[in-house]
Formats: sequence, C-alpha cells, structure tokens
Amino acid sequence: MIQQNTAIIGTQWGDEGKGKLVDAIASDFDIIARSTGGSNAGHTIVTNNKKYVFHLLPSGMLHNDIIGVIGNGTVVHLLDLLKEIDELEGLGLDILNRLKISDRAHLLLDYHREIDRKLEELKGADKVGTTKKGIGPCYTDKAMRIGIRVGDIEDIGIIKEKVKNNCEFHNQTLGLDLDTDAELKNVLSVRERILPLITDTRFWLNEKISGGKKVLFEGAQAHHLDIDHGTYPFVTSSAVTVGSVCTGLGIPPKHISNVIGITKAYTTRVGEGPFKTELKNTLGEKIREAGKEFGSTTGRPRRCGWLDADAVRESVIINGIDEINLTKLDVLTDLQEIKVFYNGEYRVFSGWDDELGGVREFKDLPKQAQTYIKEVERMFGARITYVGIGQDREDLIIRKS
Ligand code: GDP
Ligand code: IMO
Ligand code: MG
Repeated sequence: MIQQNTAIIGTQWGDEGKGKLVDAIASDFDIIARSTGGSNAGHTIVTNNKKYVFHLLPSGMLHNDIIGVIGNGTVVHLLDLLKEIDELEGLGLDILNRLKISDRAHLLLDYHREIDRKLEELKGADKVGTTKKGIGPCYTDKAMRIGIRVGDIEDIGIIKEKVKNNCEFHNQTLGLDLDTDAELKNVLSVRERILPLITDTRFWLNEKISGGKKVLFEGAQAHHLDIDHGTYPFVTSSAVTVGSVCTGLGIPPKHISNVIGITKAYTTRVGEGPFKTELKNTLGEKIREAGKEFGSTTGRPRRCGWLDADAVRESVIINGIDEINLTKLDVLTDLQEIKVFYNGEYRVFSGWDDELGGVREFKDLPKQAQTYIKEVERMFGARITYVGIGQDREDLIIRKS
C-alpha cells in the first residue's frame, strides 16, 4: 500500500508504460490527476484480455471509485474528450460523475490541428514529427495570451467572441481560411455536458489533500520530451517534468512525496530528433515486433534502440526520482547479448531465453535478468522497485525490500 501522494514521470521519450503502472497502483489512491499535455498522450492498459487506450482521461479511472482531475496545465479538445468518456461509459464505467476539469485548462480547437499540420509541412525536412493533435499551436495561443480557456464556455457571448477573434487573427497572420461557424458549432454542441465538470481544481485539490485524500499525479510524455529539459527542438510544447505537477495543478511541491520514474528496458522514440542508441537494423526491427512498438495515438512505428542509462540518470537527477519501474523486460528475452549505453560507452550483458510471463518474484527471474536489473539501477542512481514482464495488469513484479 502506497502511503504518499505519488507522481509518475516518464524518464525517456514517452511510451515507457506509464499507464500500466498507474492502473496497477491506482487502487491505493483517492484521486488521479493529469497536469500537462493533451491527447498527444496515449496510455495503454491491458486487463482481462481487453485493451484500453487513454488519451486525456487519467488512466486510473478504470477503477470505479477514483476521482479524475484534468488540470489547468492541460489542453483539452472537448469533442475528443467526450468521445473517450462515451466509449468507457459504453463499457459500463461511470466517468462523468467522477471527473473534474479545470476552468483554466485551455480549449484545443480543430484549427490548432490545422496549424499543426501546416507548420510541420512548412518545416519540411526539419519537422518535429508531432502527433498532429494541435498541441503546439494551442500552447502557442496560451503563451501569446489569446488562448481560450475551458471556463470561457460558461458564457456563450464570451466563447462566441473569442473563437471568432482567434479564427480571424489566425486567418490574417497565417493566411488560413478557418471556419468560425464550424468551430463554434462543435463547442456549443458539447457545452451542456461539459459545464457540470468545470471546477477550480486548484482549490478543490488542495482542500482534498489537506483533508487526507491521497493523489496520484499521472505524468504524460517524458523527461526528454520536455520543452526545457528535452532534446529541443524535438520536444513537445509544454513542461512535463516533475515541476509541471505543481504548475499544471496549482499544488505546492511539499504535496509530492514520492516520484516514480518509468523506464523501458530499452529505448523507443516516435517522431524526429536525436537518438544515440538507435538500432537502424534487423535487431531494431526485432525489438519493435517483440515490443509491439507502434504508437498508441498515431499508430506510427516507434524507433527502437538500446537502453541509454545516461539519459535515464539525467531524468533521475532533474525529477528527484525515488524509485523506478523498469518496463518491458520480457521484450529482451531471446537476445544473446544486451547492450546499455553508460558513461559514454556501451556495456554488454548476457541475455536469457526463459519466458518471463509467469514470474511474480524477483528471485525467480533468470540470473542474467537479475544481473541486468541490479547493474542498470546502479547506473540510474535509483532503485528499481517494479519490473514489468508483460502487457497484462498482472505481469508486474513488485520488489519493495
Ligand atoms: P505510456 O504512454 O507510457 O503509458 O505507454 P504506452 O501505453 O504508449 O506504450 C507502452 C506499451 O507497452 C503499451 O502497449 C503497454 O500495454 C505495453 N507494456 C507496458 N508494460 C509492459 C511490459 O512490461 N511488457 C510488455 N510486453 N508490454 C508492456
Ligand atoms: P505518452 O504520454 C511519445 C512526441 C511526438 C513528437 C513530439 C512533439 O504516450 O508517453 P506533439 O504532438 O506533442 O507536439 O509532438 O513529442 N510525443 C510523444 N511521444 N509518447 C507521448 O506521450 C508523446 N507525446 C508527444 O511524437 O516527437
Ligand atoms: Mg504512450
């Protein structure tokens, strides 16, 4: 049983398996909160042979008694969010009655996606390889101080004026032909369903924490995609490191007592940008197939390579990571040797060929796998307390002592 408010942070380039751990530990918490990003995130959970992919809703909401919060630091496409909610409600889950959206979260409209596509096209060979979900243009509007916030939909006059002004502004500055009426129609079509969810989540959350409720902060993206700390300019457009939990939810740092870093046993990246340990060969393809490394949001094949322990070490330092969940160890099964990049050079480990599927205790892992874990945790500078050995909720070794 986890006793403290806990933050989950990706330590690499995203898709480390954050959703799976969130789901595995969510029952220890009362509230689960997203502080950053939007539907560029794709968090997959597999249980009872069913697969769920969460984009904006916190993944822990699969547990029926947990309250979900979408914080002020996020960017929200209302129609997409409702689609996600309706899909889960169609499966028998009650979501609307236990979800709160910050009045300060920014509205992501279709025109942000049009601009995202257009900018990528204009950048040509220098493109970022975004998810084309409109994330960058929405945060750009926010920074330009012309963004529209979720709370603005409370007043029909205000929302109409802001959408119209923004479309005209972008038509003039970017030479676009944005359709104000279509944007407005979309927003107004879901307004009634969204209104009851709008809350000043900052005060609500602080009050709950003071009253002893436990919160799980679900990170999105990952340290090396952070706009300040990542591989700029091949990054997302928001802060995603542990500081974003404070700014994106309006809670003080003293309320984050425990930070769990999520680290894949190898490295993947979608989109463009530097990737020191990338395997552009059949071995890279073998890992992609074994790990089913295709994007949860875009379906794009993920680039694959060896574990970069120096990159993870950086995440441990900058985010104050207390413990690590090493994920997808099973994907390395059957490799003769496994390489890890550390201190600027490769270290080579012996592989194993025993299936890891049914293993539930650290001591039952093949000796070579135990050695790999013990050595890489020394390189990271943080203890590995969870080891993922399969996609299913149950395929998790908890190594607390
Ligand atoms: P997230 O964005 O960090 O939540 O990760 P994604 O859900 O985008 O990608 C991780 C993928 O790996 C998902 O398909 C998970 O179901 C899967 N996964 C997570 N942990 C494990 C594991 O330990 N072993 C295997 N084989 N798959 C895993
Ligand atoms: P989760 O939460 C992996 C990447 C995109 C692109 C860059 C910028 O599932 O780990 P954006 O659309 O944000 O402007 O794209 O960031 N990216 C992710 N890669 N996992 C994610 O989220 C990502 N969110 C953004 O591929 O390279
Ligand atoms: Mg993902």
